[in-house]
Amino acid sequence: MKRALTPGTFDPITSGHLDIITRAAQLFDEVIVSVAASAGKNPLFALGERTALAREVTAHLPNVRVEPFSGMLVDFARQMDAQVVIKGLRAITDFEYEFQMAALNEQLDRGIETMFIMSPPQYMYLSSSVVREIASLHGDVDLFVPPVVADALRRRFGAAEQS
Ligand code: COA
Repeated sequence: MKRALTPGTFDPITSGHLDIITRAAQLFDEVIVSVAASAGKNPLFALGERTALAREVTAHLPNVRVEPFSGMLVDFARQMDAQVVIKGLRAITDFEYEFQMAALNEQLDRGIETMFIMSPPQYMYLSSSVVREIASLHGDVDLFVPPVVADALRRRFGAAEQS
Protein backbone atom coordinates (compact mmCIF):
# COMPACT_ATOMS: atom_id res chain seq x y z
CA MET A 1 0.00 0.00 0.00
CA LYS A 2 1.35 3.43 -0.96
CA ARG A 3 0.73 5.81 1.91
CA ALA A 4 1.56 9.52 1.85
CA LEU A 5 1.58 12.22 4.50
CA THR A 6 0.45 15.78 3.84
CA PRO A 7 1.96 17.58 6.85
CA GLY A 8 1.32 21.11 8.01
CA THR A 9 0.23 23.32 10.85
CA PHE A 10 -3.23 23.87 9.32
CA ASP A 11 -3.97 26.96 11.44
CA PRO A 12 -6.57 26.73 9.97
CA ILE A 13 -6.91 24.38 7.01
CA THR A 14 -7.68 26.36 3.82
CA SER A 15 -9.13 25.56 0.40
CA GLY A 16 -5.54 25.57 -0.87
CA HIS A 17 -4.61 22.78 1.53
CA LEU A 18 -7.76 20.88 0.60
CA ASP A 19 -6.85 21.10 -3.09
CA ILE A 20 -3.45 19.51 -2.42
CA ILE A 21 -4.94 16.82 -0.13
CA THR A 22 -7.65 15.94 -2.69
CA ARG A 23 -5.12 15.61 -5.50
CA ALA A 24 -2.78 13.55 -3.32
CA ALA A 25 -5.70 11.24 -2.48
CA GLN A 26 -6.10 10.52 -6.20
CA LEU A 27 -2.46 9.41 -6.43
CA PHE A 28 -2.00 7.32 -3.27
CA ASP A 29 -3.86 4.46 -1.61
CA GLU A 30 -4.01 6.36 1.63
CA VAL A 31 -3.25 9.94 2.63
CA ILE A 32 -2.68 10.96 6.22
CA VAL A 33 -3.18 14.66 6.83
CA SER A 34 -0.58 15.16 9.56
CA VAL A 35 -1.41 18.10 11.80
CA ALA A 36 1.76 19.33 13.49
CA ALA A 37 1.65 20.69 17.03
CA SER A 38 3.94 23.55 15.81
CA ALA A 39 4.03 24.99 19.33
CA GLY A 40 6.75 27.44 18.28
CA LYS A 41 4.31 29.08 15.86
CA ASN A 42 1.90 29.88 18.71
CA PRO A 43 -1.13 28.75 16.67
CA LEU A 44 -4.51 30.48 16.88
CA PHE A 45 -6.36 27.14 17.03
CA ALA A 46 -5.36 24.40 19.48
CA LEU A 47 -4.03 21.16 18.02
CA GLY A 48 -7.35 19.40 18.77
CA GLU A 49 -9.34 22.14 17.01
CA ARG A 50 -7.08 22.12 13.95
CA THR A 51 -7.35 18.34 13.76
CA ALA A 52 -11.15 18.39 14.14
CA LEU A 53 -11.55 21.01 11.39
CA ALA A 54 -9.27 19.05 9.06
CA ARG A 55 -11.33 15.89 9.77
CA GLU A 56 -14.59 17.69 8.98
CA VAL A 57 -13.42 19.12 5.67
CA THR A 58 -11.88 15.84 4.47
CA ALA A 59 -14.72 13.57 5.69
CA HIS A 60 -15.93 13.06 2.09
CA LEU A 61 -12.54 11.62 1.00
CA PRO A 62 -12.61 7.90 1.87
CA ASN A 63 -8.86 7.29 1.70
CA VAL A 64 -7.90 10.31 3.77
CA ARG A 65 -7.47 10.35 7.54
CA VAL A 66 -6.25 13.06 9.83
CA GLU A 67 -3.78 12.54 12.68
CA PRO A 68 -2.11 15.06 15.00
CA PHE A 69 1.60 14.73 15.71
CA SER A 70 4.40 16.39 17.62
CA GLY A 71 8.10 15.74 17.22
CA MET A 72 9.97 14.99 14.03
CA LEU A 73 8.11 14.48 10.77
CA VAL A 74 10.38 11.62 9.70
CA ASP A 75 9.64 9.77 12.96
CA PHE A 76 5.91 10.23 12.43
CA ALA A 77 6.20 9.04 8.81
CA ARG A 78 7.97 5.88 10.01
CA GLN A 79 5.37 5.35 12.72
CA MET A 80 2.57 5.66 10.14
CA ASP A 81 4.44 3.42 7.68
CA ALA A 82 4.31 6.21 5.06
CA GLN A 83 6.88 6.31 2.27
CA VAL A 84 6.09 9.75 0.83
CA VAL A 85 5.69 13.29 2.15
CA ILE A 86 3.61 15.58 -0.07
CA LYS A 87 4.02 19.35 0.10
CA GLY A 88 2.18 21.97 -1.88
CA LEU A 89 4.23 24.49 -3.83
CA ARG A 90 2.70 27.89 -4.27
CA ALA A 91 4.73 30.87 -5.46
CA ILE A 92 8.45 30.75 -6.27
CA THR A 93 9.14 31.97 -2.71
CA ASP A 94 8.17 28.52 -1.37
CA PHE A 95 10.98 26.81 -3.29
CA GLU A 96 14.01 27.52 -1.15
CA TYR A 97 12.33 26.76 2.17
CA GLU A 98 10.68 23.61 0.84
CA PHE A 99 13.89 22.35 -0.76
CA GLN A 100 15.71 22.92 2.53
CA MET A 101 13.12 20.89 4.44
CA ALA A 102 13.07 18.16 1.79
CA ALA A 103 16.87 17.94 1.85
CA LEU A 104 17.01 17.78 5.65
CA ASN A 105 14.30 15.13 5.80
CA GLU A 106 16.16 13.15 3.14
CA GLN A 107 19.29 13.24 5.29
CA LEU A 108 17.33 12.22 8.37
CA ASP A 109 15.64 9.27 6.65
CA ARG A 110 16.57 8.17 3.15
CA GLY A 111 13.52 5.93 2.97
CA ILE A 112 11.15 8.88 2.83
CA GLU A 113 10.57 10.69 -0.45
CA THR A 114 9.28 14.28 -0.58
CA MET A 115 7.06 15.09 -3.55
CA PHE A 116 5.56 18.44 -4.54
CA ILE A 117 2.18 19.30 -5.99
CA MET A 118 1.76 22.74 -7.59
CA SER A 119 -0.99 24.92 -6.20
CA PRO A 120 -3.45 26.14 -8.86
CA PRO A 121 -3.35 29.91 -9.63
CA GLN A 122 -6.35 30.78 -7.45
CA TYR A 123 -4.58 29.44 -4.35
CA MET A 124 -1.05 30.53 -5.16
CA TYR A 125 -1.01 33.44 -2.74
CA LEU A 126 -3.23 31.90 -0.09
CA SER A 127 -1.89 31.20 3.39
CA SER A 128 -3.35 30.49 6.79
CA SER A 129 -1.93 33.71 8.23
CA VAL A 130 -3.60 35.81 5.52
CA VAL A 131 -6.88 34.04 6.24
CA ARG A 132 -6.44 34.66 9.99
CA GLU A 133 -5.75 38.33 9.34
CA ILE A 134 -8.82 38.79 7.11
CA ALA A 135 -11.00 37.01 9.69
CA SER A 136 -9.57 39.07 12.56
CA LEU A 137 -10.61 42.22 10.66
CA HIS A 138 -14.07 40.70 10.06
CA GLY A 139 -13.43 40.40 6.32
CA ASP A 140 -15.02 37.70 4.19
CA VAL A 141 -12.99 34.47 4.18
CA ASP A 142 -15.59 32.35 2.36
CA LEU A 143 -13.56 32.33 -0.86
CA PHE A 144 -10.52 30.90 0.89
CA VAL A 145 -11.71 28.30 3.39
CA PRO A 146 -14.45 25.64 3.57
CA PRO A 147 -17.68 26.79 5.33
CA VAL A 148 -16.98 25.02 8.68
CA VAL A 149 -13.61 26.75 8.88
CA ALA A 150 -15.18 30.14 8.08
CA ASP A 151 -17.69 29.52 10.90
CA ALA A 152 -14.90 28.60 13.32
CA LEU A 153 -13.03 31.81 12.42
CA ARG A 154 -16.16 33.90 12.88
CA ARG A 155 -16.73 32.33 16.29
CA ARG A 156 -13.10 32.96 17.24
CA PHE A 157 -13.08 36.62 16.21
CA GLY A 158 -16.70 37.48 17.00
CA ALA A 159 -19.07 39.64 14.96
CA ALA A 160 -17.91 42.92 13.42
CA GLU A 161 -18.39 45.94 15.67
CA GLN A 162 -21.15 48.30 14.53
CA SER A 163 -19.92 51.88 14.07
N1 COA B 1 -2.50 26.26 0.58
C1 COA B 1 -2.58 27.27 1.47
N2 COA B 1 -1.59 27.57 2.33
C2 COA B 1 -0.49 26.81 2.28
C3 COA B 1 -0.35 25.74 1.39
C4 COA B 1 -1.41 25.49 0.51
N3 COA B 1 -1.36 24.50 -0.38
N4 COA B 1 0.85 25.19 1.58
C5 COA B 1 1.45 25.87 2.57
N5 COA B 1 0.63 26.84 2.99
C6 COA B 1 0.93 27.86 4.01
C7 COA B 1 0.33 27.60 5.34
O1 COA B 1 -0.99 28.05 5.39
C8 COA B 1 1.25 28.39 6.25
O2 COA B 1 0.89 29.74 6.19
P1 COA B 1 1.22 30.77 7.35
O3 COA B 1 2.65 30.54 7.78
O4 COA B 1 0.98 32.04 6.68
O5 COA B 1 0.26 30.48 8.45
C9 COA B 1 2.61 28.28 5.58
O6 COA B 1 2.34 27.88 4.25
C10 COA B 1 3.52 27.31 6.25
O7 COA B 1 2.81 26.13 6.42
P2 COA B 1 2.96 25.13 7.62
O8 COA B 1 1.78 24.27 7.57
O9 COA B 1 3.27 25.80 8.91
O10 COA B 1 4.07 24.23 7.06
P3 COA B 1 5.61 24.27 6.95
O11 COA B 1 5.86 24.18 5.50
O12 COA B 1 6.25 25.36 7.73
O13 COA B 1 5.97 22.88 7.64
C11 COA B 1 5.74 20.98 9.03
C12 COA B 1 5.19 22.35 8.68
C13 COA B 1 4.83 20.40 10.06
C14 COA B 1 5.76 20.10 7.81
C15 COA B 1 7.19 21.15 9.53
O14 COA B 1 7.25 22.23 10.43
C16 COA B 1 7.68 19.89 10.22
O15 COA B 1 8.06 18.96 9.59
N6 COA B 1 7.58 19.89 11.57
C17 COA B 1 7.99 18.76 12.40
C18 COA B 1 9.37 18.95 13.01
C19 COA B 1 10.44 18.51 12.04
O16 COA B 1 10.47 17.38 11.58
N7 COA B 1 11.33 19.45 11.71
C20 COA B 1 12.40 19.22 10.78
C21 COA B 1 11.95 19.53 9.38
S1 COA B 1 13.32 19.47 8.30
